[in-house]
Amino acid sequence: MPVKVRRMKATDYDALVATWKAAGLPYRPKGRDSRENVERELMQGTSLFFVAEESGKVVGAVLGTQDGRKVWLNRMAVLPSHQKKGVGRMLADAVEKEMERLGIMMACALIDDGNDGSMKFFEGLGYVRHRDIYYFSKRKGGHV
Ligand SMILES: CC(C)(COP(=O)(O)OP(=O)(O)OC[C@H]1O[C@@H](n2cnc3c(N)ncnc32)[C@H](O)[C@@H]1OP(=O)(O)O)[C@@H](O)C(=O)NCCC(=O)NCCS
Repeated sequence: MPVKVRRMKATDYDALVATWKAAGLPYRPKGRDSRENVERELMQGTSLFFVAEESGKVVGAVLGTQDGRKVWLNRMAVLPSHQKKGVGRMLADAVEKEMERLGIMMACALIDDGNDGSMKFFEGLGYVRHRDIYYFSKRKGGHV
C-alpha cells in the first residue's frame, strides 16, 4: 500500500508517541509531549502537524510549526521499518508546501549533536548546516 501524508488529528496521539519511541526520540509524557499539550498545540493555527500513514497505520510524523517568520520541523520520526524509503522526505515536503502557501521563506530544524543520520537526512533535503550558531532556550520551571 502506498504511504500517504495527512494532517495529524488528536486521535493520532498514541500512534505519534509509539512512532517517537520506535524511532528512538526522547519522549517527556508530563511536559510538552503530554496528550493535553499536543491537543492544545493542534488547536493553534501555528501547528503544521502531519502523519504518514500506510494501510491506516501511522508510520511517520512531523510536528511542524510556523511562527509567522520561519517554519520549524520538529520531532521528525519514521518507524525503523519504513526509514530510507522517502517517508521523511514526504513529511518535510508537506510542511514546506504549507510554508509556501503561507508566504514564509525559511524552514529550519534543530538537531542534537551526534544525530548524524538526521543531519544527513536534512542535508539531503537541501538544508544547510550552521556551525556558527548556538541554541539558547529558557524553560518555565527551569531546565532539568
Ligand atoms: C531522520 C529520519 C526522520 C529520516 O526519515 P527517512 O524516511 O528515513 O528519510 P528519507 O527516506 O525520506 O530520506 C530522504 C533523504 O535523506 C537521506 N537519508 C535519510 N536518512 C539517512 C541516514 N541515516 N544517513 C544518510 N542519509 C540519510 C536519504 O538517503 C534520502 O536521500 P535520497 O532521497 O537522495 O535517497 C528517520 O531516519 C528517523 O526517524 N530517525 C530517527 C529519529 C530522528 O533522529 N529524527 C530526527 C530528529 S531531529
